[in-house]
Amino acid sequence: MSVHYQNVVPWGRSFQEYVDMFSLNDEDLDKSILGCGDGPASFNCEMNRKGKSVVSVDPLYELDRERIQKRIDETYLEVLEQTRANQDKFIWKNISSVEELGKIRMSSMSLFLDDFEKGKKQGRYVAGGLPELPLEDASFDLVLVSHLLFLYSEQLSYDFHVRAINELLRVAGEVRIFPLVDLNSRKSIHLDEIIGELVSQGYVVSEDKVEYEFQKGGNTMLKIQTI
Ligand SMILES: C[S@@+](CC[C@H](N)C(=O)[O-])C[C@H]1O[C@@H](n2cnc3c(N)ncnc32)[C@H](O)[C@@H]1O
Repeated sequence: MSVHYQNVVPWGRSFQEYVDMFSLNDEDLDKSILGCGDGPASFNCEMNRKGKSVVSVDPLYELDRERIQKRIDETYLEVLEQTRANQDKFIWKNISSVEELGKIRMSSMSLFLDDFEKGKKQGRYVAGGLPELPLEDASFDLVLVSHLLFLYSEQLSYDFHVRAINELLRVAGEVRIFPLVDLNSRKSIHLDEIIGELVSQGYVVSEDKVEYEFQKGGNTMLKIQTI
């Protein structure tokens, strides 16, 4: 059996997971950060509590809190079901079971939901989606993209990836993307060609190993920098 979602699902990770996925050090955390496709992750809420600067952009934020909660509830059981049926594709070390995964994700998503309306008023949650973001040129130092590009390689085309990454490089000088495997823990079919394309455009590109690995083989991030 394989993992398949019709659309990109709302599913949220924590501050510590972002730190590990993107190898964020203290200097990185003090940068002006854009989280693209942050959805119901608690990264923004937890960063804000630490007095750090992060804006999250996601099409989900067009909805109000109640409707986001409904979308989460609708997809929650499906995600756990597909994960249970594909347990061999994950490493059950830091998270020991599907039940624990559900609890951890729900606790991050609750933090997000409680922060959403206040954060939206403060401009920390912006409704918008790739490949065109409602953001000024060079308005951030660093963009983080977790569990959207490359993961959904089946749903999002090569051309979409190229347009999306160029758009992210328009708004920030550095982009980090994690993971580089698809939903079935296979290396993304778009990865090599995209690296070649970005290098030919003159960007500095590296695939860096990180501490985080939940999907088997999903332990590298793509780092793209303007010179
Ligand atoms: C699997 S969730 C990941 C959430 C978060 N980044 C994390 O890792 O916990 C994927 C998110 O991508 C968002 N998304 C879908 N299409 C998008 C687009 N075109 N541009 C930006 N975000 C998008 C979804 O709304 C969803 O919140």
